[in-house]
Amino acid sequence: MKDVRILVFSGSTRSGSFNTKLAEVVARRVNAAGAQATHLSLADYPMPIYNGDLEAEAGVPEPAKKLKDVMQDHHGIFIASPEYNTSVSPLLKNTLDWVSRLSADGEPPAAAFKNRVFALGAASPGALGGIRGLMGLRTIMEIGYGALVIPDMATVPGAASAFDDQGGMTNERTAGLLDAMVQRLIAEAALRA
Ligand SMILES: Cc1cc2nc3c(=O)[nH]c(=O)nc-3n(C[C@H](O)[C@H](O)[C@H](O)COP(=O)(O)O)c2cc1C
Repeated sequence: MKDVRILVFSGSTRSGSFNTKLAEVVARRVNAAGAQATHLSLADYPMPIYNGDLEAEAGVPEPAKKLKDVMQDHHGIFIASPEYNTSVSPLLKNTLDWVSRLSADGEPPAAAFKNRVFALGAASPGALGGIRGLMGLRTIMEIGYGALVIPDMATVPGAASAFDDQGGMTNERTAGLLDAMVQRLIAEAALRA
């Protein structure tokens, strides 16, 4: 396979985060499928809450610039997004909003979101697996940032018992949906490699 690079990250930095576990499972399956996964933590990209005055005075923070560079070094990106009150986590929204402010000369607006493909997933202890938050995230990604997002999504309900100790999933159906998403993401990313 060509050098297909897939970035994965979680919208939670909580210790023991289910979404970070989901990101880890996806990274493992991406590698198993022959592509190259990079799993980063947003804890390594700290940013203040967005404020237009802050941006006017000091510009976009360095961690946002670094994250943009990392995103642009990958052909596909998987985001594991916690559901907070049917929406996305403040951490994820704030991070992506800062990154969306960046475009170099000759680049389109929200450049980090263009020319690559995205897939979304969520893990929740609840029965719906965070799907409601993903509907909001899809709107933000597609309409807000102009990103291409594949239809397949990996949702993990009952997350407290969904992950086994070997880095896999305890539920076959959940694992099957996740694998289908990974295959589609890699196939779409390969078109951009
Ligand atoms: C403010 C807040 C709101 C939440 N709202 C929802 C929700 O609407 N739906 C849901 O399934 N879980 C909800 N949860 C539970 C989260 O899914 C749960 O805390 C999950 O573990 C967070 O993701 P993480 O494990 O990756 O940190 C909420 C949690 C918090 C703190």
